[in-house]
Parts: sequence; C-alpha cells; structure tokens
Amino acid sequence: MSAATEKDRVIIFDTTLRDGEQSPGASMTLEEKLEVADLLDAMGVDIIEAGFPIASNGDFEAVTEIAKRIKRATVAGLARAINADIDRAGEAVRFAAKPRIHTFVSTSPIHLEFQMKKSEAEVLDIITATVTRARNLVSDIEWSAMDATRTPIDYLCRCVDAAIKAGATTINLPDTVGYATPDEYRDMFIQVRERVANSDKAIFSAHCHDDLGLAAANSLAALEGGARQIECTINGLGERAGNAALEEVVMAIKTRGDKLRYATGIESTMLTRASKLVAAVTSFPVQYNKAIVGRNAFAHESGIHQDGMLKNQQTYEIMTPASVGVSKTSLVMGKHSGRAAFRDKLRELGYELGENAFEEAFNRMKDLADRKKHVYDEDIEALVGDEVGSGQDRIKVESLTVICGTQGPQLATLTLDVEGTHKTVQASGNGPVDACFNAIKALVPNEAQLELYQVHAVTEGTDAQAEVSVRLGENGRSVTAKAADPDTLVASTRAYLAALNKLMVKRNKGVNPQTLMAG
Ligand code: KIV
Ligand code: ZN
Repeated sequence: MSAATEKDRVIIFDTTLRDGEQSPGASMTLEEKLEVADLLDAMGVDIIEAGFPIASNGDFEAVTEIAKRIKRATVAGLARAINADIDRAGEAVRFAAKPRIHTFVSTSPIHLEFQMKKSEAEVLDIITATVTRARNLVSDIEWSAMDATRTPIDYLCRCVDAAIKAGATTINLPDTVGYATPDEYRDMFIQVRERVANSDKAIFSAHCHDDLGLAAANSLAALEGGARQIECTINGLGERAGNAALEEVVMAIKTRGDKLRYATGIESTMLTRASKLVAAVTSFPVQYNKAIVGRNAFAHESGIHQDGMLKNQQTYEIMTPASVGVSKTSLVMGKHSGRAAFRDKLRELGYELGENAFEEAFNRMKDLADRKKHVYDEDIEALVGDEVGSGQDRIKVESLTVICGTQGPQLATLTLDVEGTHKTVQASGNGPVDACFNAIKALVPNEAQLELYQVHAVTEGTDAQAEVSVRLGENGRSVTAKAADPDTLVASTRAYLAALNKLMVKRNKGVNPQTLMAG
C-alpha cells in the first residue's frame, strides 16, 4: 500500500453475545450462541466477547464451547474486578486459540459513591490487583473503565496508568450511559493517550451506548482520538438503547473511506445475514428503517427517488445493496410511485402491457396504495391478471354499498355504468355475495349461469387483497374472469361483471350470437 492509500486497521470487537444478550428479553440458547459465534468468525470479527462466565452456568458453558470451536477470532470472557470472576473467565476461555479476559471496574464518582462504596485510592488498588491476576492466567487482557465518560480526566488517567502497568494490553473507555458527544469522546482519548506514560503499550478501545443515538458517531470519533478497537453488536443490540451497531460502524468506514482513513477485516456482504440471524434467535425485530440492515434500507417508494434510481443508482444510494448482502434494490410500489418505476416493476414481474392497459393498471395500483398499507408484488400480479378494466368494458362498477351481518337481510345497492348510462338498484340475497350478484342480474338481465365462484387472499394480513374468480356458462360455453380488491364484495362484483363483459365480446365477434343484455 502506498502512503497515500494506507489505512489504519480497526479491530472489531463484537459483544452481541455479552452486552447484546444483556438486553431484557434477548437471551439465546447455547446452540443459538454457537451459530452466532460461527457467523461472526466467518464474517471476520476480530474478537468475539462470548459472555460473562460468572453470571451463570449457561454463560460459562457458552463461553467455554465458543472458545473451543472458534479458531480464527480471539474469544473474550467478561469479569468484574473480583477474583472469582477473573478465575472463572480464565477457566472459560482457556481452550481458545486466542483467549482474552476482559475485566472492568467503575471509575466515575457516582458509581464509586453509590455502587462500589469505595474511594478512588481503593479502586486504584483493585485495578492493579485484578489486572495482575488476570495477566497471570492469559496474556491478552482488556481492562475497561466503566462510566469512563463521566470520570474526571485526572483520575481516569491514573486508572489507565495502573491498568497498563499491571499488564493490560487493551484499554477500553466506555461511554456506559451513552452520554458523551462525539467531540468530547474523541478528546477524552486524545488526553488519556497523551497523558499516560505507557499509553503506546496498549490498544485503546471505544464502547458506546446509544441512549442519545450517538453510539456509531461516538465510536468513529474515538478513532480520531487514537482508539483502534471498536466494541459493537449486530443490529445495535445491547443494554437499554443498545450498543453501537457493528454494521453501521463497518459500513461508515467502508463507504466514507475518503474521510475515515481506516479499514476493518469485516466481510460486509455477510452483514445482512448476521442481522437476520441475530434478529431471529433473539426475537428482536429489526426496525424497518434501520441503517444498513433495515428492510427499507435499500427500498425506494417516492416517485422522484424511483425515477432517479432507474436512471442511475447512485442518485439515491450511497452503497450498493450487494455490498451488505442484499440481492437488489427494491422499488416498493406505493402511492408515491411514478409510471417509470411501475413499468419497471411490471417488466421485472414479466408483464408487457399496451398503453391503455398500462394506464389502467397504473391507476388501479395507485388506488390500491391509497387503501392498502403495502402493495406487494403479488398484489401487482393480481391487479394485472385482473381481467377488469381493459378500457373497453361496456359495463363498469360505479359504486357498491352492502349491508350485511347477523341482522339480515343482506342488501346490495349497486350503481353500474352501462354503456355510459348510470343505473342503480338495491337487491337482497342469501348472503352479501348473492345480494351483489342479484343486483347485477337486476341491472343486466342475462341467462348466464354461475359455474364457479372462488376467493383467495393474495397476500397475508387482514388488509390483503381478495382475488375472486368467476366462471359463467351460457349455451354450453364458459368464460372465466378474475378481479382483485381489498374488499371481497367489490372484487366479486367486478369479477362477475368482467365475465359478463367477456361474454358480450364473444357475442360481438359472432361467437354464440346470444343477446346478453335483454333489458
Ligand atoms: O457499558 C459498559 O461499560 C460495559 C462494560 C462492561 C465494558 O459494557
Ligand atoms: Zn456496555
């Protein structure tokens, strides 16, 4: 690498299995933890914090098993500044190819006074004793100053100095409560590294919580202050508002290489897979608009955006979906979609429509988007496959109102546009569908027999479109037509009329010359 392109390597320390698993409700089974650890290792995570061995036998077993099977990444076990914790962590990671003990103690005045009930001097002694103990078990020791960002800088420097002197190889300065701003966090690293005599003997690490939504920004700011390890989690899982999201930190570094002169060893195309796995095993859904891995992260709905995307993807995408393992950009059809995007979507689904049919389908898609939350590909297929609205239909539905329920009789008030004339009728029936069909018969008397009536839901959910198929028979001939609508009765009425229109077309072509519209 030339000096101009040289980038500093940032160590990615993943704590999904420890800080992430600490989120209320996010616990994982041993098998799930092993699956996550394997994926993190395959993805290129440098250090996997596998758990907190003293916390429970389950945690101890998970850290031990992960330590045994992971061959590439370092495996870390967390320990408080307590001998029993450190010994248990040492025991759990001892079979790892690259073991690490991560020990921590609070350093801020509020933690010392209310939680630890110890003086600054006592905590300094604890740091020396516990780091020394850990160092006698393994050579790779990380020491963390819990609540570092609310610790007076002089005292923080003395703590860091003691930890390095006792043998810590990584110094982590967490923003435990997610309180720091990026410039404060960066400056803390600059000051500690400048003021502590042996700071060059350790790698400095950032560990940020997202209480103010600043975790990723703070982690990147720490790099500017000299940190070279970032502690993060998949999907930003973690205590309270979570930790810095691994995918955000990694993709910021990768995408803004012009500004952030760093590199990670993460294979970014595996990020989506990792996100899905962690969401599945924890049952923590990923917010739709979550950066990088949310389902809308590469979805475009507005007409202006879709138009730009079709011309050049870089108009509205700063990274490719492929770079994070998403197969392709999705243009989601909705009320803001334009004609170009709709045509593109139809092409993708295998439809080439003539101008009239296209216009009709486009208007119906817009109509549907006004009434239905999500317009899925299946909805569009149903809409195009829907044999209503060729523009040539002689009979069209103008309006339909149905009264139904336990109190009967079911009544349908139907207004049809019959060759330009509006006709309205109210009919009753044995159920609402029957009432609708009787209303059609009253307005358009005909001899056709209903041979088939079938309904199915196009997609899942209570707002799904109903696709109705109707087959009408007449003089030994049959026609079938389909219509889709979120309202089953509207779909039924339109499907029936579509079949009637087809019969009329047949008549006009001389097939079965039968007068349909007797009235
Ligand atoms: O947030 C924090 O301070 C921690 C420590 C245990 C590193 O998670
Ligand atoms: Zn934390």
